[in-house]
Amino acid sequence: MHPLESQRPANANAAPRVIAVTGGKGGVGKTTTSINLAMALVNAGQRTMLLDTDLGLANVDVMLGLSPRFTLADVFAGRCELRDTVIEGPRGLMVVPAASGKRHMTELLPQQHVGLVNAFSHLDIPLDVMIVDTPAGISDGVLTFCQAAQDVILVVCDEPASVTDAYALIKVLSRDRGVNRIQVLANQVPNVNEGRAVFDKLERVTSRFLDVTLSYLGAIPRDEWLRLAVQRQESVVDAFPTAPASLAFRDIARKIGQWQAPQGPRGHVEFFTERLVAAQGSACA
Ligand SMILES: Nc1ncnc2c1ncn2[C@@H]1O[C@H](COP(=O)(O)OP(=O)(O)OP(=O)(O)O)[C@@H](O)[C@H]1O
Ligand SMILES: [Mg+2]
Repeated sequence: MHPLESQRPANANAAPRVIAVTGGKGGVGKTTTSINLAMALVNAGQRTMLLDTDLGLANVDVMLGLSPRFTLADVFAGRCELRDTVIEGPRGLMVVPAASGKRHMTELLPQQHVGLVNAFSHLDIPLDVMIVDTPAGISDGVLTFCQAAQDVILVVCDEPASVTDAYALIKVLSRDRGVNRIQVLANQVPNVNEGRAVFDKLERVTSRFLDVTLSYLGAIPRDEWLRLAVQRQESVVDAFPTAPASLAFRDIARKIGQWQAPQGPRGHVEFFTERLVAAQGSACA
């Protein structure tokens, strides 16, 4: 029996909320955000899974000090099933790790990205939420994993390159993948007002040229405690719960807890489609 099966409650097949964390530019804080939001959700009692889709340069496991036996590279090589990769992180966080340094993993075909999304439909683990950390860029994998999530959080910093890359990503997500609702999280800002200003910059250009609705999710301050936590291979929310960044991540997690639950399948590539169909069926019954 899989160790996580023992935690299985009665509503094991409820459809989890899936949130992709992306940003376009490298190093803006996508993985930091994924890890800390996931831990804040765990600490709020949510059964949470964190999926690392940075298939070439994975670092969720490193940032959490985990040593995975299997990674997604083993799944694609046919050495194990998806469920075999799931490892337990801090406080029961479930982590699906990717591999680092396997170049062929960055050259997967579009249908292989879809195949990975579909593999989650057969993962019989009770979950309330899954956070999907994506790599930098606008590759097919990034686009597919964002499209397959119900919500997309876009991490942006107050730097011209970050705002430009964020705009480019929003453009392809909306134009090519029909993603028309995006939550913007300003990271590494000196204060909350700056976060709002970054959002306003992005909003101004997107509202002129693109058919997409941006919402301001909030801001995470630049915080030395966060850097220290990264050095210690821990989330800042656990290592330094009263640090400014931890308070901000908890606030964002609270907001996420108030979002409406997924209603049913949307008819395109989507994580946990079967559970969404089942949830829709029981809502209609
Ligand atoms: N709010 C913050 N305050 C201070 N430092 C931060 C903050 N957010 C991120 N950092 C620093 O930036 C580094 C890069 O962050 P992270 O790895 O999360 O970025 P990323 O967007 O996932 O990068 P990549 O594109 O390489 O995947 C972290 O190791 C951390 O030191
Ligand atoms: Mg990253």
